[in-house]
Amino acid sequence: MTSPISTHKHGSTLIVTSNNPPVNALGAAVRQGLVAAIEQATGDDAIHSVVITCAGQTFFAGADITEFGKPPVMPWLPEVVDIIENCPKPVIAAIHGTALGGGLEVALGCHYRVAVPSAKFGVPEVKLGLLPGAGGTQRLPRVAGVPKALEMVTGGGMIGAAEAASIGLVDRLIEGDLVQHAVAFANEVKDIRPLPKSSERDDKLAEARANPAIFADFRKANARKMKGFEAPELNIQAVEAALAKPYAEGVLDERRLFMQLMSGSQARAQQYFFFAERKASKIDDIPAYTKPRDIRRVGVIGAGTMGGGISMNFLSAGIPVTIVEMAQDALDRGTGTMRKNYEATAAKGRMTADQVEQAMGALTPTLDFSALADCDLIIEAVFETMEIKKDIFGKLDKIAKPGAILASNTSYLNVDEIAAATSRPQDVVGLHFFSPANVMKLLEVVRGARTESDVLVTAMALAKRIKKVAVVAGVCHGFIGNRMLMPRQVEATKLLLEGATPDQIDRVHVEFGMPMGPFQMADLAGVDIGWHRDPTRIENIRDALAAEGRWGQKKSAGFYDYDEKRRPSPSPRVQEIIDDFRTREGVQKRDITDQEIIERTLYTMVNEGAKILEEGMAQRASDIDVVWVYGYGWPVYRGGPMHWADGEGLDKIVAGLKNQEQRMGSDFSFSQLLLDTAASGGKFTR
Ligand code: 3HC
Repeated sequence: MTSPISTHKHGSTLIVTSNNPPVNALGAAVRQGLVAAIEQATGDDAIHSVVITCAGQTFFAGADITEFGKPPVMPWLPEVVDIIENCPKPVIAAIHGTALGGGLEVALGCHYRVAVPSAKFGVPEVKLGLLPGAGGTQRLPRVAGVPKALEMVTGGGMIGAAEAASIGLVDRLIEGDLVQHAVAFANEVKDIRPLPKSSERDDKLAEARANPAIFADFRKANARKMKGFEAPELNIQAVEAALAKPYAEGVLDERRLFMQLMSGSQARAQQYFFFAERKASKIDDIPAYTKPRDIRRVGVIGAGTMGGGISMNFLSAGIPVTIVEMAQDALDRGTGTMRKNYEATAAKGRMTADQVEQAMGALTPTLDFSALADCDLIIEAVFETMEIKKDIFGKLDKIAKPGAILASNTSYLNVDEIAAATSRPQDVVGLHFFSPANVMKLLEVVRGARTESDVLVTAMALAKRIKKVAVVAGVCHGFIGNRMLMPRQVEATKLLLEGATPDQIDRVHVEFGMPMGPFQMADLAGVDIGWHRDPTRIENIRDALAAEGRWGQKKSAGFYDYDEKRRPSPSPRVQEIIDDFRTREGVQKRDITDQEIIERTLYTMVNEGAKILEEGMAQRASDIDVVWVYGYGWPVYRGGPMHWADGEGLDKIVAGLKNQEQRMGSDFSFSQLLLDTAASGGKFTR
């Protein structure tokens, strides 16, 4: 097999090139090739310097994640980085694309780093539940300083080349041919001794030592962001070791902490999720050569919260939008909100004033429905009523140009029925955005019975363009996400009658790692959502709350009472309502354990997920996990409901559900797939 690493001489410089598509991951062959190249340079007196560079779209994007969990193949990456740093001749990293994780660690092992202005740098290991384990936690603070290193190792984000240069992570920014300039740079530095080694630097550590509170302050400031995750804390501990110990001892701490994380369930879940997210974009039964349709202008019907948020996604990606409303005041209100949201982003420094104008300038607000005629994709985002949707799609059918994609943002309704209102059901698809639509990463792409393959491929490609993660769902009530929410909601409400409090149920969910529990979510979204609006018709607890105007946070009262700072407290009035209902329904009050809450609200979700799978409404179990992590904030360190269930043991899930089966009554029925998979000792996701 040919090595992904090749070398050639340019004068007295040895140019070492990695060609390991798609991202130059540092797999075994790359590591072996790098070591051989350094040995070649060391043994050749005619070589005075080495340039390490990568072919293709990027510099090394990190260790090869597919090797994790398999028997290790030597040399290890930490050893490779040490060998590079100990090369007696200057080694220069020539960086383009993204130098990530182990890739940045290789660059830190080099004596110098040069980069093109578009290059990006980061240590995203924390997102895989890990830490930079090839000396990165020890070298990065020495080169970039402790505050920046802490931010990078715990956040996992990327910094640009200009910033990298300003903090000393990059020695020179290069305009023009990267390798040519890197060789010129190598010639400039070839005689400088001693060679600058990242592991031997102390200047930036000394700066940090002057501020003994640096770690405590960092932990405090980031406590909320890091809550529940193991990796950020261990990343901090590794950087602490860099400050407290000599390099040779610090790397031993790094290794120990790395192994601790690698053997834990969070790293397994987060690495699983990395691949789950990438798999989600693939549609198994559509050939890879299927060409997407050209989308140059998007139309949005409805300028409410959803329509506005949806439009912003396209405008931010530079795609012009025509937005249609029925009345001028609604149109003005909608576009005003969009501008306000953009301006708030600009105020936080995440957009320039020019970019705000550019985005808003690409928006065409109108009351004229026929203005949608030149749109390539039209998304309907109006009330969740079948009759209204059918009426709109019937009208669209008459004015949309041939080949235009007609999409509904429905969150529950039957996309096939909507498609049947047109003469072109093959062009109709569901595009279910999650609120707030300009923020949430998830997009459910609902595949109708007659949706054409290229329509789906277009939707998936477009999702990438607007930086969303798309998952394909089949036509069923609530698709993947909301369908699984239903059993959770039903059981949570029944548990109130049986003796649990909203506070207890929400606490169990928050302790599990969800951003909020079912009742906190109801208060945030609005208790009145989907309410029949008849205060005399009180059929359940929710109706009773809605009838009293307890519509949630917006009314300072819902399942909780809220003070002027929107801080919740348990509501005696809500407890009264619950108690009344209990009496009315003749339900016996009893103590509810936290375990029962888990079994009835989380195990039931897993059961529903299994039904979705067996009905073919999701392509794969990992897609369900992607929906729940990106749509509802399921803690990624638990991988998603299906991965979590696998970890718990499907036999335990089945046993828990059997425990509760009688209490759940006719609201519950087992998924045969769950029963069968549990019985055979199988798993959904591995
Ligand atoms: N190892 C193995 N495969 C990888 C990989 C890696 N580090 N990074 C990406 N890939 C694969 C993806 O799975 C995908 O495969 P597919 O085509 O079969 O689905 C393919 O490369 C392309 O990836 P993307 O779809 O993500 O391509 P993008 O162009 O959108 O993004 C990227 C490129 C920014 C490099 C992104 O892939 C990425 O962020 N990769 C992960 C980087 C990372 O986490 N590095 C740290 C690794 S851990 C480490 O280094 C440990 C060390 O400290 C010891």
